[in-house]
Amino acid sequence: EKGGYDYFMLKEIAEQPKAVADTLLGRIDPSGSLTLDEVRISPSELREVDKVVIVACGTAFHAGLIAKYAIEHWTRIPCEVELASEFRYRDPILDGRSLVIAISQSGETMDTLMALRHAREQGSKVLAICNTNGSTIPRESDAVLYTHAGPEVAVASTKAFLTQLVACYLVALYLGQVRGTKWGDEVHAVIKDLSRISDEVERVLETMEPVRALARTLAAKNTVLFLGRHVGYPVALEGALKLKELAYMHAEGFAAGELKHGPIALIEEDLPVVVVVPSPRGRSLLHDKIVSNIQEIRARGARTIVIAEEGDETVVPYADHLIRIPATPTLLQPLVATVPLQVFACELATARGNEVDQPRNLAKSVTVE
Ligand code: M6R
Repeated sequence: EKGGYDYFMLKEIAEQPKAVADTLLGRIDPSGSLTLDEVRISPSELREVDKVVIVACGTAFHAGLIAKYAIEHWTRIPCEVELASEFRYRDPILDGRSLVIAISQSGETMDTLMALRHAREQGSKVLAICNTNGSTIPRESDAVLYTHAGPEVAVASTKAFLTQLVACYLVALYLGQVRGTKWGDEVHAVIKDLSRISDEVERVLETMEPVRALARTLAAKNTVLFLGRHVGYPVALEGALKLKELAYMHAEGFAAGELKHGPIALIEEDLPVVVVVPSPRGRSLLHDKIVSNIQEIRARGARTIVIAEEGDETVVPYADHLIRIPATPTLLQPLVATVPLQVFACELATARGNEVDQPRNLAKSVTVE
């Protein structure tokens, strides 16, 4: 049932192009607009929404962090993202005009379930983004957008994450469409880019051998750091989480701009630091800032592992290892930038002799608070 792969995780990483395509299937009509029939919250209710609040845990939380950028950019509705386990304990400000989005692969995560129950008690509408048909979280929500990734067996989430991202982009675009905000050329272009993204993910998968080879050389390291800015920051957090849970290594993700406020003190000779570089097109300021971050850490001895777009030559002099990803609009880049990090963590876990599909101390779905 592992389809010829040694681990479910490898199979699920390989299934990502199809999973992403399946999440999009039937949701973009030929005119390029969106039909999200399952979102049973009426357009008039969606027009009333004055705040979006995303609750989730772990990898799904990282998808939520990325969704915030897309939702705010395309809809101009303020969006908060909160760890589900923290949410209800701080008496969050919610009412009938708040749209709460609960993201969960399993649909059974107790922290997320309790957060959504709390939101509904305050009169907010809850939209679930979920991979498991008929599970508790969608059953208790007002509406659900299924991710259609197919069963995810490995404890470490991979294809669920990519499809959660796609679902979040669809929700953001749909909100924009319904509300008429920023519904212009950019949004149409994004929908086109999204329909091509499955092929881009496939292309990334075809070039992963050097990433595996690199991972094997790092098997004896104790620490790996991850840096990113903008949507690259949650990607860095996700890369670090994968490494913790699979390789049992100390791994941390930082917003690259925070380096100088403390974490740069961690940099020492030969410390591997993975840096996610945004596209040099469009948001070039963002790109230039991260290139100087790479220079700063390299000057202090870090071994830089740089994930950058094909054709971005500015990073070449500062990259000890360069991982290329296809050119993608910044907001969609996490769909391609996360894949090498999944492969990296999986290979490091294997090299360290760890059980890839069943990491120690972890369960696939966490049904206790
Ligand atoms: O089923 P859920 O998406 O609600 O699960 C949330 C987290 O427990 C989950 O993403 C966890 O962090 C993964 N093991 C990460 O790979």
